[in-house]
Amino acid sequence: MAVDKREHWGTRIGAILAVTGSAVGLGNFLRFPGQAAKYGGGAFLIPYLVAFLVVGLPMAWAEWALGRYGGARGHNSSPGIFRTLLGSRKGAYVGMLGTLMPVMIYMYYLSVEAWCLAYAWDYLTGHFARLGTDLAAIENQFLGFVGAGQDGILFGGAGVSRMLVFLGFCFLTNTVLIYRGVNRGIERFCNLAMPLLIVCALIVLARVLTLPAHPAHPEQTVANGLGYMWNPVKPGQTLWGVLSNPEVWMAATGQIFFSLSVGFGLILTYASYLKPDDDVALSGLTACAGNEFCEVVLGGMIAIPAAFVFLGPSVVQSPPGTFGMGFVTLPNVFNQMPLGSFFGFLFFFLLFLAAITSSLSMLQPSIALLEEGLKIGRRASVSILAFITGTGCLFVAYFSKGFTALDTLDFWMANFFIFIFATIQSVVFAWVLGIDRGMAELRRGAEIRLPRILPFVLKYVSPTYLLAIFCLWAWKNLPERWEAIVHPPADGPPVVLFSVLLILAVGVFFALIVNVANKSWDKEKPS
Ligand code: ALA
Repeated sequence: MAVDKREHWGTRIGAILAVTGSAVGLGNFLRFPGQAAKYGGGAFLIPYLVAFLVVGLPMAWAEWALGRYGGARGHNSSPGIFRTLLGSRKGAYVGMLGTLMPVMIYMYYLSVEAWCLAYAWDYLTGHFARLGTDLAAIENQFLGFVGAGQDGILFGGAGVSRMLVFLGFCFLTNTVLIYRGVNRGIERFCNLAMPLLIVCALIVLARVLTLPAHPAHPEQTVANGLGYMWNPVKPGQTLWGVLSNPEVWMAATGQIFFSLSVGFGLILTYASYLKPDDDVALSGLTACAGNEFCEVVLGGMIAIPAAFVFLGPSVVQSPPGTFGMGFVTLPNVFNQMPLGSFFGFLFFFLLFLAAITSSLSMLQPSIALLEEGLKIGRRASVSILAFITGTGCLFVAYFSKGFTALDTLDFWMANFFIFIFATIQSVVFAWVLGIDRGMAELRRGAEIRLPRILPFVLKYVSPTYLLAIFCLWAWKNLPERWEAIVHPPADGPPVVLFSVLLILAVGVFFALIVNVANKSWDKEKPS
């Protein structure tokens, strides 16, 4: 079968919008406000900014440079790029993480994407307005819709549950767009979706910032909501109290990685579609800046201040459950607002756009591996990947009770492996490729001057910081997670164990593909 000709981005702005689209996602609008509110509001921004400067931006630059380096040598997949970088077949197995992680994250990310689309639809059709402002009713509606009470409930019942219909729609849309390719699918879609997303977010933000004070609680104003979110020092909290808590540093670093899509292998693959002399320095900076604008300015000023005005600090402080802020608290807020259905629709539609531009990017690394490793065309590679991700999405939807499957995949992929792969990339850039060659690669075609301190940061600070945070994080989290695998609850299926086995099964699949790919790359150009 013929191999597709290598693809490239159509325009520079298209490439930047695609990378920004991959970065701007649910992490910006749901995860960030929740983390900031939980870990000290304004004080959280200090470790967040440090993490951005010390690892986020430098690693994003390194990933852009490594990706373009691999692309110039004929590889778009992370295994191919790592084989070239490490000069050995083993390198391809290291790079495999850059395909495994995005695919596993996609399997649960798509569920949340489907919830956002369903909520947008429900606002459009007036369904949500009918639920009124009873928090318990909205929470029950949410838990029922996502099947949080019982495994398999979304598949039982009289017909196919609504959640599965929306999940199926999201799955098909992602699959069709990815099938259309980098330029005709991803780039064209992001060129439309990203500006639309920003417009929706600005309209919702304008509404939130002009809200009057709560009639019965005059202290619940937007200004106090912003203060609640952003003041570094608050009653009962000192700056030092926040900054001396290692958990805050771990949360801030994890948020930076998840949000910038750094350490997933996504930027690596996207940057490989650049031409060898295209700028990566300014493009990388623009994509990171775009993400931070969406996260801190838009994400940070919508959810919490709005919830503060309508519901007060006690509800904002402890939203019901992991997804409570987005899917319970905010619907209640929109239901109290004049024209709430319209603003509710805009908010959840923008969440859906943010999610789909991210989920799309999670498929491309594996498509690239299947195409270049098995020498198959796009139709075959998309079909194989659709089968694997479809099975994974159904797995997450089936084991819906208490979000256990979703949470387990999220923990191992978006927390554990993200640190490992980011650390590997940092060491490869600064120590294997070598900081001088790495910086020369980054400077080629650069349209800005990079900070003089960057080589020092990339060589010493980023790897040390990453290792320190990872050790702390592992020490705090791994024992409990290990317990959950080896001692499953007696009153139900061992969902945590099943989820880990799913990761292993997909890992073995990718290892087999890498094995075949290595053989074919050996014939082309022995390592
Ligand atoms: N970077 C993506 C997000 O923030 C994955 O959701």
